[in-house]
Amino acid sequence: MAIRKIREIGDPVLNKVCKPVLEVTPRIRQLIDDMLETMYEANGVGLAAPQVGILKRIVVIDVTPEGEDPLVLINPKILETDGEQTGEEGCLSVPGKFGTVTRPSYVKVSACNEQLQRFEIEGRDLLARALCHEIDHLEGHLYTEIAEGPLMTVAPPEEEEE
Ligand code: NI
Repeated sequence: MAIRKIREIGDPVLNKVCKPVLEVTPRIRQLIDDMLETMYEANGVGLAAPQVGILKRIVVIDVTPEGEDPLVLINPKILETDGEQTGEEGCLSVPGKFGTVTRPSYVKVSACNEQLQRFEIEGRDLLARALCHEIDHLEGHLYTEIAEGPLMTVAPPEEEEE
């Protein structure tokens, strides 16, 4: 596995529509492993292939606090949405910033696993937000396009007192 370079806002690769995966080749398997490693290393909860410069419809997500439940979604599509949640959202391609974004509070997604077998997954709250955010990346969209009001800057961590 290897850490890949995360592309940042302004890089045109982030604004392109990604192509479906038709076959899971060893290269694609390597890409997925690298995406997981890159996401965990950056302390992210999700990463889409275009964020590492690959225009394929692949996302990885892990919203668990310990990072023990990686989700790999190939060719995902949103089947249903319900409800609404407004909250803070960030993106590894927009470092040091966050914004207020309204998303559905529930989504049902169809996606393929690494054997290209289709399955469905339901997400609520943070997982619903992550699913919407990552699938948007595959269409070339960043949350900054739909953030309400100006982006905010992440405060630097406070120095710990001895
Ligand atoms: Ni993102």
